[in-house]
Amino acid sequence: MRLKNMLKFRLPIKSNSNQTIMGSRRKFIQKTLGLGMALPLMSTKMASLGLGKKRDGEVPIILCSRGESWGKKVLAPGWEKLQKNESLLDALEVSANVTELDPDDMSVGYGGLPNEDGVVQLDASIMYGPTHNCGSVAGIEGIKTPSSVARLVMERTNHIHLVGEGALRFAKAHGFKEEDLLTDKARRMWLRWKENLSDKDDRLPPEDGDYGLDRPTGTINVLGIDQEGNIAGITTTSGLFGKIPGRIGDSPIIGAGLYVDNEVGAAGATGLGEEVIRTCGSFYVVERMREGMSPQEACEAICKRIIDINGGEKNVDFNDKFVAVNKSGEVGVAQIQGNDNWKPELAYQTPSGFKVVKGSYLIEV
Ligand code: GLY
Repeated sequence: MRLKNMLKFRLPIKSNSNQTIMGSRRKFIQKTLGLGMALPLMSTKMASLGLGKKRDGEVPIILCSRGESWGKKVLAPGWEKLQKNESLLDALEVSANVTELDPDDMSVGYGGLPNEDGVVQLDASIMYGPTHNCGSVAGIEGIKTPSSVARLVMERTNHIHLVGEGALRFAKAHGFKEEDLLTDKARRMWLRWKENLSDKDDRLPPEDGDYGLDRPTGTINVLGIDQEGNIAGITTTSGLFGKIPGRIGDSPIIGAGLYVDNEVGAAGATGLGEEVIRTCGSFYVVERMREGMSPQEACEAICKRIIDINGGEKNVDFNDKFVAVNKSGEVGVAQIQGNDNWKPELAYQTPSGFKVVKGSYLIEV
């Protein structure tokens, strides 16, 4: 009987296939942004916050929760609009659509990895600072650009969340085409995952199969501030690979996967959504910024909060990442787990150019 690699495929979202989450190698440390300096071992409770280097902000700005290559692709069309002082929401939407429409991104939109049944179910949200209005869709099937549907929920209804079949009908009423979102690559990964879930079922992987694949991380946050200082954000995802059909992550939940306050700033989350939901993660980040934390400090604070509510690092074998921008265009990014070769990144574009920021992590793996 071939050994089935159950653990590998049962891990929550993480982004580095070479990472192990098992506890012995894990050290709880704080890496200070910019300084790259490891502080001595400390308990979760004692973790130093507010060590993030303060950056000077600049607006207009558009940023996303990805590094260099995706960052360039994603931000270019949005920046084109923003620098011409076109609509902030148009700018963010066109940028979010880049990943949604790209089948090479297996965590967002078309080409996203499916649920347990092999069906792609997408979540997305949008929030607009000047009106404090928002919209989202959850578990929507067959539509490549859920963030565009979320925008219509915000702009063309009195509702905030539309889910499943209702969201699909709403999208079709607005002219969206229903399409098969499952690419061949995503289908093959799903099949491999099914075959390796258990050695007590009847599915057998082929002898020469390559089962070294992890459950890839996903989701993208796109945040922006226009020339007038108005703030908005989008979060979009195909959610947790292999999720139970109908599972909704943090991405479509306002305050969890996305939050915007026009007086303060914006924040977005990626990673294991359940942890972000039960801490109201993005709301938490924005409220800490309101109290005076920098975006970097606030992103570190929510990571610490998640570790704390789980009873400390020994219980944390998942990852979450937060990005944030404040009203003056200062940015921050932090994640729970990381190491020197796996730091959280964000990319942003301002009139001064395109930049990538490597942020901080709280637990070394
Ligand atoms: N953060 C994406 C999800 O958990 O669905």
